[in-house]
Amino acid sequence: MPDTAELRRLDLAHLWHPFTQMKLWPEEPPLIIDRAEGAWLIDTDGNRYFDGVSSLWVTVHGHNVPEINQAIIRQLGTLDHSTLLGLSHPQAIRLAAELARLTPPGLNKIFYSESGSTAVEIALKMVYQYWQHLGHKEKKTFVALENGYHGDTIGAVSVGGIDIFHQAFKPFLFPVHRLPQPHCRHCRLLLTYPACDLACARKLEDILQQHGHEICALIVEPKVQGAAGMIIQPEGYLSKLVAICRKYGVLVIADEVATGFGRTGPMFACELEDVRPDLMALGKGLTGGVLPLAATLTGDHVYQPFLGEFDEFKTFFHGHTYTGNPITSAAALANLELMAQRNILENVRVREAQLAAGLARLAELPHVVEIRHQGMMAGIELAKDAGRDEPYDPSLRMGHRVIMACRQHGVIIRPLGDTIVLMPPLSSTAEEIDHLLKAVEAGISEVTG
Ligand SMILES: Cc1ncc(COP(=O)(O)O)c(C=O)c1O
Repeated sequence: MPDTAELRRLDLAHLWHPFTQMKLWPEEPPLIIDRAEGAWLIDTDGNRYFDGVSSLWVTVHGHNVPEINQAIIRQLGTLDHSTLLGLSHPQAIRLAAELARLTPPGLNKIFYSESGSTAVEIALKMVYQYWQHLGHKEKKTFVALENGYHGDTIGAVSVGGIDIFHQAFKPFLFPVHRLPQPHCRHCRLLLTYPACDLACARKLEDILQQHGHEICALIVEPKVQGAAGMIIQPEGYLSKLVAICRKYGVLVIADEVATGFGRTGPMFACELEDVRPDLMALGKGLTGGVLPLAATLTGDHVYQPFLGEFDEFKTFFHGHTYTGNPITSAAALANLELMAQRNILENVRVREAQLAAGLARLAELPHVVEIRHQGMMAGIELAKDAGRDEPYDPSLRMGHRVIMACRQHGVIIRPLGDTIVLMPPLSSTAEEIDHLLKAVEAGISEVTG
């Protein structure tokens, strides 16, 4: 058995955890995960927890999947790493072809990186340079959504709109045009769906009419704004945005980092409204949740203007040391093969219905103000007075207290403010979803009284 006390001491001495107020970290002894089996995480004292957050939204088939592990081991025996700068290798080639086959039509060029943030950063740089090559020197900005989240690199933060995360870096960020968040309960335009006729999407038309000449692209998390608290866009919203972009010749970047690979139901959330973006950012579930790999996809129309003679310097000057690493690529290929073999999308369809039924019960709890759900992503928003839609004082950290209570019931989840996020692995069984729902119901009831 690992020495939990010693590991905790070293953690407190040396680790700086992401998105974590480190002053508060020592107040609750850190839970140290030692092992995993399927959808379950096991701590250094042998306690088992259902991974209700899919280890930050990535897990597809559960942990330690023999087929993915074998693919990694096989790859280690042939080629551990070789650069894509000036060379190529079979796994990056095969994976690129597979991604081109699986994604919506027109996305046939694949540029690799290692995280969702870099996949987005690359998309932004790519479309900016695309317009520069076409002679549109005035195109220097983007349209993005209020409360959008696209990662933590400077470009991704610029298009991101979550003030609490992004405010601190304001002087470094480039300006973008913002669309009102399509959250019907808190409609910024004080309208009601569907009578509103998607007025929040039509705002894009006003922006493009006035500023279209300086705008490179719209970036959007299709169908679900995850980090904003699982905000589900109303029916027709996404396709409306894309139609307006088409009318004004502005490109569309779909950030499918969170929604891709079956998380919302179909393979990609864009399929829910049959939209075909010009660029797509992928990450998270690409390797089944095992290794860091991301991809930015686009089509020939964006690719062609980069072609030229060496001394025209039209090259896309971007590339990371580990871009398209063979081991991560092999893991991704194994994941995609397994998704088809095990018909993961069918499991998502069945579990989505089970989750919906369970969540309908949770909606009856007195302090639940709204439940938002799509596929295997759900947000349960808590409020001090659900009837009057009056939030808790943030200093009470109700979301945090609920997820800590859920741990006592054998479930690991993470909140976004006072929204309890459920992101079970896509392979979850009926019993596991039941366990998750029961633990969450108990945790909410205990904490909210
Ligand atoms: C929609 C979206 N884009 C980008 C990112 C950033 O991905 P990463 O954390 O891998 O950099 C995230 C992460 O949650 C995300 O949800």
